[in-house]
Amino acid sequence: MSQRVFLANLSDFSEKGRQVFSVQGSSVLVIKVAEQFYAVANHCPHLGLPLASGKVEGSTITCPFHGSKFDLASGENLDWVTSFAGLKIPQWSRRLLEMGKKPTPLQTFPIIVEEGKLYIEL
Ligand code: FES
Repeated sequence: MSQRVFLANLSDFSEKGRQVFSVQGSSVLVIKVAEQFYAVANHCPHLGLPLASGKVEGSTITCPFHGSKFDLASGENLDWVTSFAGLKIPQWSRRLLEMGKKPTPLQTFPIIVEEGKLYIEL
């Protein structure tokens, strides 16, 4: 059975359109794009590094460390380990940087906006 967890009042949500919450010991990143909220685990499935400063384009986020790209709604992996320190890397060197990790989806959470409050479901 799912559990609804309060995150914030909408009026307190970051004007930057993204905010990290600690939810039962886990870091959850909430992103607002064009009035739509998305909630995802704030750790990239590649090496577990934080996604909070990742580039958001539409409903996708790109990991700031090695360029893996994910759909914010479904968590689907759209591209896997494409760069290092912001520089694109050739296909042959991706395997080295992957460090044996296979493309993996990003964990997402249902998000609820109700009566001016933001919740996620665990
Ligand atoms: S930690 Fe995100 S792609 Fe490597």
